[in-house]
Parts: sequence; structure tokens; C-alpha cells
Amino acid sequence: MGEVIGLIAIKGGVGKTTLASSLSADLANNQGKKVLLIDTNYSAPNLGIHMDLLEPEKTIHDVLAGRTRLESAVHSRFGVDVIAGRPGAGFEINPLKLRDKISRAKGLYDFIILDGSPSLNEEVLSTIIASNHLFVVTTPDMPTLSCSMQAAQLAKQRGKPVKGIVINKIRDPAYEISLKHIENSLDIPVVARIPDDKAQVRALFTRIPLPIYKKRSKFSREIHNLSAALSGKPETISFYKKFLTGFRKEEVNRQVLKEDFYTRTFRSRYE
Ligand SMILES: Nc1ncnc2c1ncn2[C@@H]1O[C@H](COP(=O)(O)OP(=O)(O)OP(=O)(O)O)[C@@H](O)[C@H]1O
Ligand SMILES: [Mg+2]
Repeated sequence: MGEVIGLIAIKGGVGKTTLASSLSADLANNQGKKVLLIDTNYSAPNLGIHMDLLEPEKTIHDVLAGRTRLESAVHSRFGVDVIAGRPGAGFEINPLKLRDKISRAKGLYDFIILDGSPSLNEEVLSTIIASNHLFVVTTPDMPTLSCSMQAAQLAKQRGKPVKGIVINKIRDPAYEISLKHIENSLDIPVVARIPDDKAQVRALFTRIPLPIYKKRSKFSREIHNLSAALSGKPETISFYKKFLTGFRKEEVNRQVLKEDFYTRTFRSRYE
């Protein structure tokens, strides 16, 4: 059975869509996984811009409204099956519907990645309810941290404790909130630290996920480390790095995540 992973944050612009696209592209192209990526930011969908799918024939809005079957809304991009949204397609959201609509697709995919909405309403609730695992995307600044706390609290209230925090857009660590501070405030492990990367501007402009646009970058390497953990595979850490700096906290956290996902994959294979 496929794992449904929701990337959430009660804040816009932190990088949910960028990371959902990048993670999906890496899982599909570098881990050999079958991935379905869905835009669940219904009121302001923009996944299509990141995945070069500007005018999807059918969208998640059509699926949820019962106008089309889920399979018919799938478009293939960069080795990933994508269901985008349609900007301006306002409609009433039933937060349980997404979970019901994707239940059959779980058998067809290794991963279903949900790109969440920043609004604290039925939209993010629908992502939380449909997910088996939630990750909160945050940036290392105080205003965002308080929103991340809200997101983690909401998920916990719904019986879906957040599995990990992804810190994105790290620019100047000496003047930003530390991993330790974030972990202590949220009581959730940080599983990836992703730098602000200038190349993302070009990747978005050309509508190619960054791990494909520029494979050799710190951004793409860290996304690959996370996708390895989700695939139950060890990440490659050079002997010299290990010798010189030891393991970083996020690497240790990913090791735990890897064991969790490895066991799940192994178990589901024999169920
Ligand atoms: N690590 C990064 N380095 C550089 N730019 C980034 C990075 N992550 C995201 N961005 C840029 O930040 C902007 C916002 O990213 P994105 O659209 O992914 O955020 P979001 O959380 O999905 O926003 P929304 O809640 O509005 O959907 C985009 O221009 C994206 O290219
Ligand atoms: Mg987004």
C-alpha cells in the first residue's frame, strides 16, 4: 500500500509546493518509486507551475466534485503522476472527500504526496485527514515558527502527529533560529535542512523541479537524503565528513525515519 505524505504549513510561501515537487521528482527519478503528486491547495493552486502543467485538462477540483475519475485527472510530468488544481475554481470543501477519492489509488503507487494549503480551514484539514504521514515545512524565523506550532497542534488534535519538520530557505544560520530551538519548541524531529538556493528561481522559471534542473546542489542533495529515508534506504555520507564532523542531528533523525519506513514497506509487502 502506498504511503500518503502531506506537506503542510499554516503559512504561505515557505516552500510546500517547491518541496512537494522536488521530493516527488527525486522519489520517482532517483529512488525508482511510483509517485502521485496532488495539489490540495484548492483555493490558490500553483503546483502546475512547478510541474510544467499550466493547463491541465482535468483537475483535483473535477475529481472532488465527482465530475471525473481520479485516474482521468492524472498528467505525467518528469516521471511523476500529477493532479493539479485550477486557479479560481471556487467550491465548497468536504474535508473527508480527498481521503475517500485517493483510497483506491493507494494500491497503485508507492507514494502519494499532497501539497497543502496555507489556510487554517477545511483545505488543510482535508490534507491532514487524507495523509498517513505529515511533515511541517517551516522557515527558520520566529513568525513562521509560531505558525508551525499551530500546524503541529492541529494535526495532533486530529490524531495525526507530525512525523518531522523540514526547515527550508536557510540563508544565514548565525542569525536564524537553530535546529535545536525548533525541535525544542515543537517537540518534533527535524528531518531535513534545506538551503535557500538561487537556482530555484531559474528552476521555477523553466518549470523544472530543482533536483532535475540542478542535481548537484546542496538543495537537491538534502531532498535526496529525505527521499532515501522515505524509501527505507541509507543515505550516503562520506567517510571523511563522518570522521571530521560526526553525524548531524537531522541525519540521525532521518536514520530513525528510514527504519520506520523500511519496516512499513517490508510489512506491507507481506500483508
Ligand atoms: N529552498 C529554496 N530556495 C530558494 N527559493 C525557494 C526555496 N523554496 C521555495 N522557494 C521559492 O519560494 C517561493 C514560494 O515557494 P512555494 O510556492 O513552494 O511556497 P508555498 O509554501 O507552497 O506557498 P503557498 O502556501 O502560497 O502555496 C517560490 O518562488 C519558490 O521558488
Ligand atoms: Mg504552494
